[in-house]
Amino acid sequence: ALISMRQLLDHAAENGYGVPAFNVNNQEQMRAIMEAADKTNSPVIVQGSAGARAYAGAPFIRHMILAAVEEWPHIPVVMHQDHGTSPGVCQRSIQLGFSSVMMDGSLMSDGKTPSSYEYNVDVTRQTVEMAHACGVSVEGELGVLGSLETGEAGEEDGVGAEGKLSTDQMLTDPEEAADFVRKTQVDALAIACGTSHGAYKFTRPPTDDILAIDRIKEIHARIPNTHLVMHGSSSVPQEWLEVINQYGGEIPETYGVPVEQIIEGIKYGVRKVNIDTDLRLASTGAIRRHLALNPANFDPRKYLAEATKAMTEICVARYEAFGTAGQA
Ligand code: G3H
Ligand code: 13P
Ligand code: ZN
Repeated sequence: ALISMRQLLDHAAENGYGVPAFNVNNQEQMRAIMEAADKTNSPVIVQGSAGARAYAGAPFIRHMILAAVEEWPHIPVVMHQDHGTSPGVCQRSIQLGFSSVMMDGSLMSDGKTPSSYEYNVDVTRQTVEMAHACGVSVEGELGVLGSLETGEAGEEDGVGAEGKLSTDQMLTDPEEAADFVRKTQVDALAIACGTSHGAYKFTRPPTDDILAIDRIKEIHARIPNTHLVMHGSSSVPQEWLEVINQYGGEIPETYGVPVEQIIEGIKYGVRKVNIDTDLRLASTGAIRRHLALNPANFDPRKYLAEATKAMTEICVARYEAFGTAGQA
């Protein structure tokens, strides 16, 4: 069944677990997420980005998610819009039937320029008014996502600040977070705590203090009833980078967020954990390997099935690690 994000994250908070929110662009990703959820009895958050809507078209994203609800009726599913750049974008998703939207007012509507606090409060509050009237949940964002190691926002089409960021910008302020939640009434708040989007988060193997866990604790202590969201939470599996590079890929040395540190965050109020890059890496590795080892194959179903299997394994691992398994 389709449920709102508030319903799911309230349950996650009561029971102390986190929920991975996977991005979907195609049927293989959707199927991998659902097969993993079915295997582990996990509730699901799937999210469509502006890039996904440009690639597949909003009706296809919507019907793919509805098809999953039909095929796996016993699994609760949140249909979430990722990184909305204006209240108008969120309004169109609500009209399409999304049960949750993100209004990312940390950046201007170009998705690149860091905004003022007042602008962020204003667009987020407007979105909440509209969404709550329709029973739809809202995620806001305060702070600018960026790697504490590199000071970069990360590489992603259409989402992320341009240029070098200061440490101050890259860490959400707990007092400001409290004021923001009071003024906007958001259900969930994406915070900046040292992660960035994409595959290039850290240039060296991450140490166990690569995220600002203390900052997460302080924010959670200040706004205990707001569900925290960690964007840029891919772990960038080294084994998939090796497979990609072994079969003709050229991806330089790079590292993601260790799963253990996400688990630390979940202890202090992180309830939604956004993951896109890991599924991209796993599917690309599986397809490269299949095509290299089966040069005569031209049936896309053969290599796409390999991609689905690789993504399913990642989803199962995250559902188990975050405590989502068994909660559906
Ligand atoms: O937040 C970013 C997500 O990874 C979506 O990326 O805009 O390339 O679909 P995308
Ligand atoms: P990754 O690029 O780390 O997978 O993050 C995805 C994300 O935050 C989507 O909103
Ligand atoms: Zn994001």
